This record gives sequence, C-alpha cells and structure tokens, in this order.
Amino acid sequence: MASQIAPSVLSADFSRLGDQIQSVADSGGEVLHLDVMDGHYVPNLTFGPLLVRAMRKMTDMVLEAHLMISEPDLYIDNFISAGADIVLVHPSTCSSVKDTLNSIKAQGVKAGLVVNPDEKLSIVEPYFSEMDQLLIMSVVPGFGGQSFMPEVLYDLPQMSQSLMENDVLVEIDGGINMTTIGAVLDKGINRFVAGSAVFNEHASPGENFSTLQNLVVSGR
Ligand code: DX5
Ligand code: ZN
Repeated sequence: MASQIAPSVLSADFSRLGDQIQSVADSGGEVLHLDVMDGHYVPNLTFGPLLVRAMRKMTDMVLEAHLMISEPDLYIDNFISAGADIVLVHPSTCSSVKDTLNSIKAQGVKAGLVVNPDEKLSIVEPYFSEMDQLLIMSVVPGFGGQSFMPEVLYDLPQMSQSLMENDVLVEIDGGINMTTIGAVLDKGINRFVAGSAVFNEHASPGENFSTLQNLVVSGR
C-alpha cells in the first residue's frame, strides 16, 4: 500500500476551511484527519458531527474521524451519518472494544483503535482480526503542535508481521513534520497524520502537503 500524509484540520484556519481543504485535495491529498475532542477525555474541545457533515459537503477526500471523547458509543452513529469514512476510537473509552469495532464496521465504514504514548501497543493485539487500522499516538492527545515522541515505536517491529497478516493499516499521529518524518519512514507505517506541518503560515496547505508527501514517497 502506498504511504500517505493525512492532513489534520486541527491546525487549519477554520474561517476559510473549504479553501484549506481544497488546497490539499488539489495537491493530491486523499485522507483528511478529523480530531474530535470533548473537553473530557482530553482537555480540549474541537467539533462534532455538525462540522463533519459540513466538511463532507466540501470534499470527496476520505474523512477519518479520530474520536478523543468519552463514551464514543453514544455518538459513533452520528459521525457515520455525517459522512465519516473511518472511525478511530481509544480502547479505554469503549465498554466493549469488540462490540464498538463491529458496530462501526456493520455500518460500512472502517474501524480502528488508537494507542496513547502511556499505553502499550500490545493492548490492541486481541483485536487485530476486527480492526482495519491502528493509530499510534506520538504525542499525548489533546493539542496540535507538540513534539514527536520516538519511543512510542519501540514495540512496533515485534508486531509488524502480525499487523500485516491481519491487513491492519498502521498510522502515526503527532509531531510529524519535515524534520521528524525521516525517523518514522521504513518502519511499516502506512499513514502519517500532520496538522501544524501542513496548516501553517510558511506555505499553502497544498505546498506543505506536497513537501511532506514527497519525503514519504522518496523514503527520506
Ligand atoms: C492530537 C491530534 C493530532 C494533532 C496532530 O491530539 O490527535 O492529530 O492534530 O497535530 P500535529 O501534527 O501538529 O502534532
Ligand atoms: Zn488525531
């Protein structure tokens, strides 16, 4: 599978969100990462299904909802009917991880689990056969613009074979930029979330996306 950058709109200028999303789409962006925060599971608030529905109208890109919320089971259906194509949940927020994954997939969208830096990657091993994706957090969830934590990948090599056998897409989220991306290439990671490295003042979102995507494709 080709490796790809997934821009996170968390750092976008929401006063011109449509233009910012169009900019990455025009540069070949295929997946948009949506950080949903409830001010409870994480100490920050972002947006809910209403804005996902609006973004669904703005773009044909794959919409990946990263739910950093307590009791996601209460809201998952709303995110799916709003247009999310992929739903990612933190296992500790689900009353039954298996049931949550299966109910997401039963609605025809992809389901994944997220592991925080203070959790072991092995906590998701029992669910490999039910998951479409594993999202490894390389910052403590809650805010964009934090520093990349390389230690979150120490246990990945021993799981790589099993992840591949189960066809689980591996994704990393947090602190990925032009400088840090070199450290996460060639490690079996398929998707790289980038928020502040894509949406910033230095260049257009599309230009920043292309710079990162070229580094991923060239493997440097
Ligand atoms: C953090 C979010 C990340 C964040 C990444 O809680 O899950 O997706 O937007 O932002 P950067 O790329 O700036 O670290
Ligand atoms: Zn995220």
